[in-house]
Amino acid sequence: MRDLHVVVLAAGKGTRMKSAVPKLLHQAHGLPLIEHVIRTASALQPASIIVVVGHQAELLRAGTPAHDRMAFAVQEPQLGTGHALLQAEPFLRGARGTLVLLSGDVPLLRAETVRSLVARHEERGAAATVVTAALEDPAGYGRIVRDGDQLAAIVEDKDATPEQRGIREINSGIYALALEPLFDALRNLGTGNAQREYYLTDLIDVYRRRGLIVDAMIVADPREVLGVNSRRELADVTAILKSAKNQALMAAGVTLVDPASAYIGPDVTVGPDTIVQPGVHLEGKTVVGANCVIHAGVRIVDSTIEDGVVINNFCVIVGSHVSAGARIGPLAHIRPESRVGENAHVGNFVELKKTSLGSGSKANHLSYLGDATIGSHVNVGAGTITCNYDGRVKSQTIIEDGAFIGSDSQLIAPVRVGAGAYVAAGSSITEDVPAGSLAVARSRQVTKDNWASNKKIRDKG
Ligand code: UD1
Ligand code: CA
Repeated sequence: MRDLHVVVLAAGKGTRMKSAVPKLLHQAHGLPLIEHVIRTASALQPASIIVVVGHQAELLRAGTPAHDRMAFAVQEPQLGTGHALLQAEPFLRGARGTLVLLSGDVPLLRAETVRSLVARHEERGAAATVVTAALEDPAGYGRIVRDGDQLAAIVEDKDATPEQRGIREINSGIYALALEPLFDALRNLGTGNAQREYYLTDLIDVYRRRGLIVDAMIVADPREVLGVNSRRELADVTAILKSAKNQALMAAGVTLVDPASAYIGPDVTVGPDTIVQPGVHLEGKTVVGANCVIHAGVRIVDSTIEDGVVINNFCVIVGSHVSAGARIGPLAHIRPESRVGENAHVGNFVELKKTSLGSGSKANHLSYLGDATIGSHVNVGAGTITCNYDGRVKSQTIIEDGAFIGSDSQLIAPVRVGAGAYVAAGSSITEDVPAGSLAVARSRQVTKDNWASNKKIRDKG
């Protein structure tokens, strides 16, 4: 292979999205459209990736994850695809070899397909090789005009004759281009067309007249070159990506009870014999181990779930770690930087934030545990609350191994409950509780005998 460079066109407007957000930052299957394309580009290990931005350039730049060897070129104003590619020239001075041109709004293209494109392009010594597809409905696309077998020209829909509009082979907008003749040729493009734009597609005709080789590679699966121009197409593309991910998981031994309602992001991994019930969302960098059960309505983001964990219905887990054999939920909320130890239980209406719950510990009912370090085999009674915030600063609660916190207790941080200590139910703990002791922090009960019957008599009187 010769030197390889990738340019991604991303300066266009995306009018049909009807959005204040740049089109390429809309997410398909949990990743911005532009990220899908840049990942494909990265997989080719090119010498550089140049993203041409223009419309909403600053927003797009800010929303595009950083990648090695990626740079932004600015196209202002946007005068067409030929003009857009020309803006990459300063970044490619003196570069030789092959340029792959991708479109920011074509997220399904596989790196494998681009590799075949480059191989074919270089073997044939072509100046330009265009990726094409045969579509049932080619309306709107540039049409591939052939002279016998040979590629003759690309004619835009708006410039096509009625006869040319009948052609079903379309231009995907993806190309391999030899760098040597490219920029001089782009500079000489005209705008004598229906849209008064510099059409990159005119390059084909220009090269052919010069006797350079131009070629077209048709993709087997036209879905690979689907472009996203509207919300409907965004949903179509998302459905394809989601279904491919789910199929790969099932092939690897994961049970998806209802694949249509399993939303599992591109970077998520799930171990074998894990069962995913309907309506589950696994997002970001989530890792789920083997032999887990994830019940309906659970959402897990950027978290690690070890083997053999059961997550009951309607839990939300974000940025946290759940160790092997733990049981969570139903209706638990585990917020960032929490850690649930091996075989620990977190029950209904329990919220954890920046809290670690040691192995075998249980917080089964109605608790808020924030900024707390809880040892192993601790029993956190129903309704326990760590009062971690005094309106100004957050403070830590420490509960050591084997402690027992009676129901409906408040632990007013900073505070420590020592190993094996007991806190009586209904206590408001403001001072450290030494290991092995019992702390009772509630007022003593007063019982007035016959008070109610005496009241009746008083009331009548
Ligand atoms: C283009 C092709 C058409 C092809 C279709 C595939 C041309 C003239 N036509 O048409 O043959 O079938 O793509 O989807 O090339 N862009 C810029 N700057 C601009 C204009 C566009 O960066 O000034 C970018 C867009 O952001 C987009 C890509 O280029 O990523 C394609 O632009 P778009 O306006 O969608 O071109 P089409 O009219 O669809
Ligand atoms: Ca388009």
